[in-house]
Amino acid sequence: MLVIGTEEMKKLLPMKEAIEAVKEAYKMVSEERCYVPLRTNISVGHNGQILFMPGYVDGIGFAGVKIVSVYPENAKKGLPSVPATMVLIDGTTGIVKAVMDGTYLTRLRTGAASGAATEALAKKDAKKAILFGTGGQAREQLWALLSVRKLEEVYVCGKDFEKAKEFAGRMSREFEDYGAKITAVEKADGVLSEVDIITTATTSRTPVFDGSLVKKGVHINAIGSFTPEMQELPEEVVLKADRVFVDSREACLAEAGDLLVPMKKGLMGEEKITGEIGEVLLGKIRGRNSEDEITIFKSVGLAVQDIVTAAKIYEKAVEQGLGSNLEI
Ligand SMILES: NC(=O)c1ccc[n+]([C@@H]2O[C@H](COP(=O)([O-])OP(=O)(O)OC[C@H]3O[C@@H](n4cnc5c(N)ncnc54)[C@H](O)[C@@H]3O)[C@@H](O)[C@H]2O)c1
Repeated sequence: MLVIGTEEMKKLLPMKEAIEAVKEAYKMVSEERCYVPLRTNISVGHNGQILFMPGYVDGIGFAGVKIVSVYPENAKKGLPSVPATMVLIDGTTGIVKAVMDGTYLTRLRTGAASGAATEALAKKDAKKAILFGTGGQAREQLWALLSVRKLEEVYVCGKDFEKAKEFAGRMSREFEDYGAKITAVEKADGVLSEVDIITTATTSRTPVFDGSLVKKGVHINAIGSFTPEMQELPEEVVLKADRVFVDSREACLAEAGDLLVPMKKGLMGEEKITGEIGEVLLGKIRGRNSEDEITIFKSVGLAVQDIVTAAKIYEKAVEQGLGSNLEI
């Protein structure tokens, strides 16, 4: 069994390769070549909850479980409040092959999800983007956008402008080689009508931008909302979108407030969902039809993404002799 540390994971799977892995994961979701039971959630006292997210991906022969704990009190003890660990299992023998950092894995595969959708759906000549949220997911969301389009400018906007400025400065240095200018904005209104891509990666429960300001042809990735009530996207923009794609129809119809709230109000029906991103990647349905269309990709996150990305990291670790071997 290999234990693979965060720094090793970073070296092993660059964003471009993570995007390829997640594209395969999405295709397998749409072809139903995986088994993902509902996650199990147990409350254990200490104001804590432990979530077990299992799955088996037939297409690659790996199973796995991501264990994510939510312990708000941990922060006071100087410990992570949402620690996560991924356990990867060989589907042919049932033997655990690797254990790795689930927090970084989540960031990487969630960034890669937006990367895969942006590559498939955004205009080829997209030049400007805006990222809402400067928290845990933000770095990989930005990295993914820079990996799939030759962007000239990316605006970042969070609730705390000082944090957004610090994030923009840090990202400008780290991703200097991509040649994009990365700038913090306190309010998005002044720049929204310029951008070709919008990514929302926030914990907001209410829409984070003014839907009347977006321009034709914009592509939107919405990753933040994960309950039937949470909305990051203004209803106006969901209603006027020409094509709406999801990571999983079933999961989004259960969890994605961005779609469920306007449905519950009777403003749209399930037919507003054009299809799954996996169907686009398989060539079963078209992505964007014209330069003027507004496209949306809504993801809530799937265990299949974790397993496929973790398997890729494990295979590369074996190839390159990285990770620490643990005999049990
Ligand atoms: N779709 C997926 O697969 C997936 C995966 C991981 C996390 N998530 C979700 O993504 C969201 C972000 O995760 P995170 O780890 O970055 O959270 P975080 O708490 O680290 O950061 C949240 C960010 O949201 C910003 N924010 C909140 N309200 C805002 C508003 N109204 N306008 C602009 N910015 C606002 C905050 O400033 C902060 O930067 C969470 O809801 C999380 O559950 C989804």
